[in-house]
Amino acid sequence: MARFPISEFKELSTPFYFYDLSLLDRTLAEIQRTARDPRFKVHYAVKANANPVILRRIQAAGLGVDAVSGGEISAAIEAGFESDRIVYAGVGKSDREIALALETGIECFNVESFPELEIIDEIAGQMGKTASVAFRVNPDIDAHTHAYITTGLAENKFGINLKQLPDILDKAASLDNIRVKGLHFHIGSQITDNEPFVLLCETINNLVEEMEALCHTFSTINVGGGLGIDYADPDRHPIPDFETYFNTFRNHLKLREGQELHFELGRSVVAQCGSLITRVLYVKEGITKRFAIVDAGMTELIRPALYSAHHKIENLSSPNGERHHYDVVGPICESSDCFGKEELLPAIRRGDFIALRSAGAYGEIMASQYNCRPLPPSYFSEK
Ligand code: LLP
Repeated sequence: MARFPISEFKELSTPFYFYDLSLLDRTLAEIQRTARDPRFKVHYAVKANANPVILRRIQAAGLGVDAVSGGEISAAIEAGFESDRIVYAGVGKSDREIALALETGIECFNVESFPELEIIDEIAGQMGKTASVAFRVNPDIDAHTHAYITTGLAENKFGINLKQLPDILDKAASLDNIRVKGLHFHIGSQITDNEPFVLLCETINNLVEEMEALCHTFSTINVGGGLGIDYADPDRHPIPDFETYFNTFRNHLKLREGQELHFELGRSVVAQCGSLITRVLYVKEGITKRFAIVDAGMTELIRPALYSAHHKIENLSSPNGERHHYDVVGPICESSDCFGKEELLPAIRRGDFIALRSAGAYGEIMASQYNCRPLPPSYFSEK
C-alpha cells in the first residue's frame, strides 16, 4: 500500500502534487536492470513531467531525454542532462527552437516532414553545423488505446508515411548539413497489451530490410514510448512490467551490428510515483446522487475531462468507513470537471484528504490557470 504522511499534509494548503521519490528510484532501478544491454538507450519523455526534482533523479539514473520543445530542451539542460543525450521531436519545430537545439548540440532531431528537413538543413548551414536526424515513420499500427493518444495510424499529423520514406532519405542524402542517423517510431501511449509492440518490431524489421535494399542504413532505431500503467490498481502494479517490455524488443527486433535501440518512455517512468492531493470542500446531497466537491479540478488534473481517463480515488482520512456512492467533482465551471461518477468510497466528510492516484505523468505538467487558479505546488516524500 502507498503511504501518505497525512499529519504533514494538515500543514499544507491543497490541492498539491505529492511524489513518492522512493518509488521513483525503485522504478528507475528496475529500468536499469531490465534494459541492461549495451545497445539499449532509454530516453525519458520530459512531456510526462518536467518537475525539476523529478528530472534530476531521472538524470542521476543515467537516462537521456526525449524533448518536444525548446522549453523542454532548456529544462533538461538545467536538470543536468548532457546535451548529446537529448533527442528532439515534434511536428512543428520553430526556427528559434531548431537554432537552440543546434546551439545546444543535441544528439538528434526526429524529423517529421520534408519542409522541416529543409529548414533544419538551412539553419544548420547558416550556423556552420551539421544536424543529425532520424525520420519519424508512421508505421500504421493500431495501439488499441484512446483515439486522442493514438499516434501510429496512417491518417495522423505525425510522422512520414511509409511510402514517402525512400524519397525523404534520398533528399536527406543530397543535403550538405544533414547526417541521417536513424528511424523513429511511436505508436501511441498507455499501451497495456504487448501485441502492438511485437507488430512494431515486425514492421521495423521489414522496413529496415527494404531500405537497405535501397542502400540506406541506420545507426539508431528509436521505438518511441507508450508502455502503459495500471490506473485501476496502482498498489498492485506500482512498477510497470519493464522486463516483458524490453524483452519484446530484445526478442523480436533484428538489430544490425553496431545499431543502437532507443526508447522514449514517459508515463511508465513517472505516473505511479505521483498523486494529486485534494481536500473535500462540501458533501452535497442531491435527489438521487451525492456529490463530493473537492478543491482540485480539471485545472490540476485534466486527464479525466480530456480523455475520459480514470484515476483511482482514495479517501486518505478515513479509509475504513462505511461505503457510499459519490460523484467526485471539482470546483471549475465546466460539467466535464468530474473525477469519478458513482464512486464507491468510505464515507466522505468535509475536510477529508482525497488522493487521485497515478497522476505523476501528464498531471502537474498539464495543469492550467483556467478560472484564475494558481498552479499547484509539489511536495516530496523526502525533504
Ligand atoms: N515519444 C513520442 C514521440 C511521443 O509522442 C510520446 C508521447 C512519448 C514518446 C512518450 O509516451 P509515453 O511513454 O508517455 O506513453 N497527455 C496524454 C499522453 C500524450 C502522449 C503523447 N506522446 C495522457 O495524459 O494520457
